[in-house]
Amino acid sequence: MIKDLQQEILRLKKERDVCILAHSYMGEEICEVADFTGDSYALSVKAKTAPQSTVVMCGVRFMAETVKMLSPQKKVILANADAGCPMAEQMDRELISQLKESMPGYTVVAYVNTTAELKTVCDVCVTSSSAVKICRAIPAKDIIFIPDINLGTYVKKQIPEKNFKLVSGGCPTHAKMTRADVLKAKAAHPGALFLVHPECRPEVTELADYVGSTSGIMDFAEKSDAKEFIIGTENAIVQHLQFRCPQKKFYPLSKDLLCHNMKVTTLSDVYDAVRGEGGEVIEMEEGMRLAAVKCIEKMIEYGG
Ligand code: 13P
Ligand code: SF4
Repeated sequence: MIKDLQQEILRLKKERDVCILAHSYMGEEICEVADFTGDSYALSVKAKTAPQSTVVMCGVRFMAETVKMLSPQKKVILANADAGCPMAEQMDRELISQLKESMPGYTVVAYVNTTAELKTVCDVCVTSSSAVKICRAIPAKDIIFIPDINLGTYVKKQIPEKNFKLVSGGCPTHAKMTRADVLKAKAAHPGALFLVHPECRPEVTELADYVGSTSGIMDFAEKSDAKEFIIGTENAIVQHLQFRCPQKKFYPLSKDLLCHNMKVTTLSDVYDAVRGEGGEVIEMEEGMRLAAVKCIEKMIEYGG
């Protein structure tokens, strides 16, 4: 059944000139039909160059909005309309505008996990894989970093020469993880390396052998000579790595590392979106798009 549906999706996407982009947190069965799978930075860059006239985004809403901002002429469909990112909704334009006013001279660096509306008042976007590089590269010395306090804390530690004002927000899934979870997993798998996403709390990242984005974690594990790994990010990555490296062992940091928003998209949703019968077509008013896309373009300029 899964194979039949995948075959039909592959046939339809060619017939209808559709590109499927899948964030690495999607299940294996969705990644298998995607034109491209990756972390949020790689997907943003890919969105700009994909030649197809329609893009189906299998991920969360801010990712589909990013595609629309970069490719306004394309039809962009979020495969499941309920897939949001709670972190992206945590701050609004008024709050950040007020903060900017009270801290003149500061540059607002926004994690890409933000709404299009919020991006209109931000100066430059970053993703987990590009945040350190971009914050180092921009000329600004004084930075307001939103909305993820954990990623902000991690970046601040890497760049002590700059001045960071952090604002308290973050990912409810990654922020649930504690030092006790890490110690328990390490006790169960004493020979394993611990790889973690920077959306986790400092008490968790400081115990890691590697800190990086979803793609960064996957690359590290694939290239490493080690044989066992504890994975401190959404559990889809454990599954992908076990498929890719069957001779190695991957353990979730916790069974609770599940993002319900990333899990809501099914292969049937992808099928419906590709045949034009489901998902949500992303619409964006041109004034908003032009104001919001500037910080995404800066991210690509500085991120490479
Ligand atoms: P990446 O930048 O690693 O793709 O992460 C996006 C995300 O939402 C992680 O929770
Ligand atoms: Fe958002 Fe966290 Fe889910 Fe990533 S894992 S999409 S940051 S809620």
